[in-house]
Amino acid sequence: MINKYKTCIRLIILFWLAQAHAENIKVAIASAHPLATDAGFEILKKGGNVFDTAVAVSAALAVVEPAGSGLGGGGYWLLHRSKDNLDIMIDGREKAPLAAHKNMFLDKSGKVVPKLSVDGALAAAIPGLPAALVHLSEKYGKLPIADSLAPAIRYARFGFAISEWHRRMLISRVNVLKKNPDAITIFLADGSVPKPFAILKQPNLADTLEALAESGRDGFYGGKVAEKLIDGIRSAGGVWSQQDLDAYQIVERIPLKGNYHGIAITSAPPSSSGGVVLLEALNILSCFDLQVTDEVTRKHLIIEAMRRAYHDRSLYLGDPDFIDIPINRLLSADYAAGLRSSIRPDKALPSDFLSGDLPEQNQGNQTTHFSIIDQDGNRVAATLSVNMPFGSGFVPEGTGVLLNDEMDDFVSLPGALNGYGLVGGSANAIAPGKRMLSSMTPTFLETPDRIAVLGTPGGSRIISMVLLGVLDFAKSNNPDSWVRIPRFHHQYIPDVVEYEQDAFNADEISKLNTLGHQLKQTKRTYGDMQAVQLQKTTRALTAASDIRGEGKAAVSP
Ligand code: GLY
Repeated sequence: MINKYKTCIRLIILFWLAQAHAENIKVAIASAHPLATDAGFEILKKGGNVFDTAVAVSAALAVVEPAGSGLGGGGYWLLHRSKDNLDIMIDGREKAPLAAHKNMFLDKSGKVVPKLSVDGALAAAIPGLPAALVHLSEKYGKLPIADSLAPAIRYARFGFAISEWHRRMLISRVNVLKKNPDAITIFLADGSVPKPFAILKQPNLADTLEALAESGRDGFYGGKVAEKLIDGIRSAGGVWSQQDLDAYQIVERIPLKGNYHGIAITSAPPSSSGGVVLLEALNILSCFDLQVTDEVTRKHLIIEAMRRAYHDRSLYLGDPDFIDIPINRLLSADYAAGLRSSIRPDKALPSDFLSGDLPEQNQGNQTTHFSIIDQDGNRVAATLSVNMPFGSGFVPEGTGVLLNDEMDDFVSLPGALNGYGLVGGSANAIAPGKRMLSSMTPTFLETPDRIAVLGTPGGSRIISMVLLGVLDFAKSNNPDSWVRIPRFHHQYIPDVVEYEQDAFNADEISKLNTLGHQLKQTKRTYGDMQAVQLQKTTRALTAASDIRGEGKAAVSP
C-alpha cells in the first residue's frame, strides 16, 4: 500500500516537472509575416509544441501571404523530434492530376503554349498543404487541429492590412487575377490593386479553413469544398476529378544527410532537388579551405560548384516515386572529387561544355519559408509554395482557395525553360499522379555547439541562397548574418552569374570577368530567408528574418 502511494506521488511529481518544463521552455520563430509568427506564439501559449506551432504558422501564412503559399499549394516540412532523435520530412508537394499527360502544355505542332502551365485552371496541380497540416497536427502535435488553425481563421474572417510587398506581388500578377471573378472580388478593389494598408478579408477561405478544422482531411478533399474545387476547375478548362482529391497522399521521406567541415547537414530529399544540389555543391567545395582563399577565388569556386550541382539537377532529378535517382552516386565523395577535378582555378568552365543551350530566365520572390526551434532542439524548417506570386491566379468559386501553378515546375518539353529558366529532361516529365521537381531547401545544420534551422523562397535561387547561408554558418556567423549576406547565383543555364548589388566589389567583378564569368546584377534583391539558432551549451536562442522582407523573428519570453 505504502509502495503504491509512493509510486503515485512520484508520478505526480514527474508529471508536474514535465508540465513546468514545457511551460518554461523557450521557442524561436522566424517567418515571412509578423501575423504568422504571432500565430505561432499564440499556439505555444495554448500549450502547443513546435509541431502545432508549425501548423499555426503554415495556416496563417496561407491567409496573410497568399502570394507565397496557401491551401491551394504545397510544401515541405522538415522535422526533428528530440525525444527519439527523429528526423523526417513531410512531402506535401502537389501532384499532377490523373488526367495530366506529357504533352498537355504543347500545341499541335509540339511547341509549348506560352503561359498555359502558369496562369489559370490547367496550371494547378492537386494541393498538398491541407493534407500535410492534418498529418502534422495528428501525428506530431499535442493540440486539436481546430486550435492550431484558429489564428488563421480569425485573420481570414476579420481581415488584416495588406503590406507594400503584398501590393508589389499583386501588381506583378494583376492581369492574371483579373481573369477570375473570385480572385477579383477577394484581391482587387474596383478591379485594381488596393491602396496601401487596405484590409483584406477572405470569408470563403475562413469557411474552408473551418471545414478543415472540423472534418480534417475530408473538410478539404471531400464534401462541399471538394465539389466546389472540382466544379470551378472543370468549368475553366481544368481536369481535376474527385478521384484526384481522394488519391492525394503526403509522403514521409527520410531526409538527406551530409557533412561539410564538421557541420552535420539535414535537408530535403526528392521530390525536391534542394538537398541533393546543396549537398553536392558542398561536397565539391569540401576539399577547399574557403576561409583562407582570397575572396575572388572563394567566389569563383562557389560559382563553379553551383554550376555543376545544378547541371545534375537538370539531368537526374524528379519524383522518386516515379524514377530511379542515383542519389548515392550523386552524393558520394568520389563523384564530388570527379566534378572538382574539372574546376580550374584560373578559368570558368562554360556551361555548354557540360551541355545545353543558353537561354534567358525570369525570376520571382514567391514561395515562403519559416523556421522554428525550441530549447530542447525540437525543430521545423518549412518551405511552402503556390509557385508564381498568387499561383495560377485562379480561385474556384466560393472556396476562397487560390490555386497553385506548380505544373510549371515540370518539364513541358525537354530543353524548354520553365518560369525560373530551369531546364530538364524526362526525369521531370509530366505524368499522372507525379510530383513536379522543386527547389525548396528546408535545412538543419548542427555542430557540437549549435543547431540552426534555415530556408528561403526564391524559385531556383533557393538552393544557392541556402548554400551561401551554410557557408556563412561555417564562418561561425549567426542568423543575422546569414539573412543579410549579399547573394550570387549560378544555375548552369543560363551561363550567367546573377548577383545582388553588394555581392561583388568592382575589383572582384573585373577579376571574375577575367576568369570568364559572365556577370549580371539583379534588378532587385531576392530571397526572404528565415533562420533560427540554438546554442547547445547556453540554450540561448536567436532568430532572424531577411532584411529584404517584412518577416518577424522572435524568441518567446
Ligand atoms: N515552385 C518552386 C519550387 O518548388 O521550386
